[in-house]
Amino acid sequence: MISADLDTQGERFSQPIGGPTSLVDLPNTVRPVSSQNPNRKKVLFVTSELADLVKTGGLGDVSAALPRAMAHLHDVRVLIPGYPQVLESDNPIHIIGELGGHAALPPCKIGRMDLKDGLVIYVLICPELYEREGTPYGANNGRDWPDNHIRFARLGLAAADIAANLAQIHWCPDLVHAHDWPAGLAPAYMHWRGSRTPTLFTIHNLAYQGVVSLASCPELGIPEHALQQEGMEFYGKLSFLKAGMAYSSHITTVSATYAQEITTPEFGCGLDGFLASKTQQGLLSGIPNGIDESWESSTDPHLTHPFNIGDWEGKAVNAAHVRNLFGLHDSTGPLFAVVSRLVYQKGLDLTEAVASFIVESGGQIAIIGRGEPEEEQAMRALALRFPGQIGVRIGFNETDARRMFAGSDFLLMPSRYEPCGLSQMYAQRFGSLPVARNTGGLADTIEDGVTGFLFNESTVPSYEAALSRAFKVFAYPGLLNAMRCRAMAAPFNWCQSVEPYAELYEQLVAKTLGISGKQ
Ligand code: ADP
Ligand code: GLC
Repeated sequence: MISADLDTQGERFSQPIGGPTSLVDLPNTVRPVSSQNPNRKKVLFVTSELADLVKTGGLGDVSAALPRAMAHLHDVRVLIPGYPQVLESDNPIHIIGELGGHAALPPCKIGRMDLKDGLVIYVLICPELYEREGTPYGANNGRDWPDNHIRFARLGLAAADIAANLAQIHWCPDLVHAHDWPAGLAPAYMHWRGSRTPTLFTIHNLAYQGVVSLASCPELGIPEHALQQEGMEFYGKLSFLKAGMAYSSHITTVSATYAQEITTPEFGCGLDGFLASKTQQGLLSGIPNGIDESWESSTDPHLTHPFNIGDWEGKAVNAAHVRNLFGLHDSTGPLFAVVSRLVYQKGLDLTEAVASFIVESGGQIAIIGRGEPEEEQAMRALALRFPGQIGVRIGFNETDARRMFAGSDFLLMPSRYEPCGLSQMYAQRFGSLPVARNTGGLADTIEDGVTGFLFNESTVPSYEAALSRAFKVFAYPGLLNAMRCRAMAAPFNWCQSVEPYAELYEQLVAKTLGISGKQ
């Protein structure tokens, strides 16, 4: 709900009409810079998803969790497009700024939304670009919006405008942290304008690149000198992702193993050479994601029956609920879960190929997710092939996802690549052991034979060998429960990520100011 409008006559200010707050009550004007945190920085997160409001996968989870996890150290605020899911949320939005257009990018307004726990969101309001029914990236039929390059260039430019204080929102970041290709042009516009504000670009998924034709240059206001190998040119096209990497002060990705993998031809998506040289220059590092405190099986209000480590009867109540939800027969065999975007990355064709092995060995599968139409169709067909043993729900909701992690014995995650992966951590925390490919963040967060089962090759025999081990463990409750205990106690949290990010922020800001930071 937008409750205020911009005074376009005088200085830009928030003018809530009948709202509970006025500008002076808003934390950005009153929040004192803590004297105990002399290094406290103002950081602008630029992202296309935020789990509180709208998400299609893990990017939304991370964009929501990391600013909160860093709040005690830095003043992190989030810039996100004003999609209907954002504007129609219960949180009032105060218009606080206005930005002019550039090339074919239309003018827009900046609204401020304060979430209940104090997280400040800057909402980019531009009805012609963002107020459409669908996901952040496309219509409900799965097709991407044809003007995504304009939509997300506008997001990047808005970040650059805020960093240049053009929005006059009384808050100017010391550092801009942009996430994935939709935010890739933020560091680029800042660089082209000669901004001295440092930028960090985080790759959550190298395979989604935001590649458009060179003919879009004039629409996006891209200077000619950007069309080179060191710039955003990518095989004769423009790449938003490459722009983010080329023009940021530093690049991170979301696990140590993926940071190394993407410098190889197998995982580099055509950018391995570019990334290898960034690594050599010390400009690419891996910082793992964590999971937030809501992932606690004994208190999670989404669960039909919250349970503690060791309460396996309690876990069985959740399993019964999942079986019921997915129309599965009663069974004493293992319950496997798939909670996933239904896309090639996630290796669902492999799960399709091992499904008969699982069912013939006495297992059942519950699948939830949505994604590419062919993958959705393949999952529906599986349920038809194995009625009562495999159940599928096309769609996604957080409650069912959490109940599936709690109710299942094993999570299937045969990803072809996995930058970090959150689902395998959520599953472990709820006592479901992942059966996963030994790649990226899966390799870094699953201890083979201790908290889950890893397999090396994206092949049916390799996958089935891991599944056989899972079935063997299931047959020995003592062993199964010991593994569950280890998985549930695994130390996944944001602390391990906050420290390296905070250190990086400080180094990047110090470098810009010419102060020698820690190297
Ligand atoms: P990815 O980001 O590649 O999908 P992650 O494991 O990092 O993989 O994150 C998955 C997150 O997205 C989890 O919170 C999961 O519950 C959620 N999720 C899975 N499938 C969908 C979907 N189809 N739509 C929205 N969220 C989903
Ligand atoms: C991407 C990746 C996933 C990662 C998530 C959050 O969607 O596919 O592995 O966990 O981003 O960083």
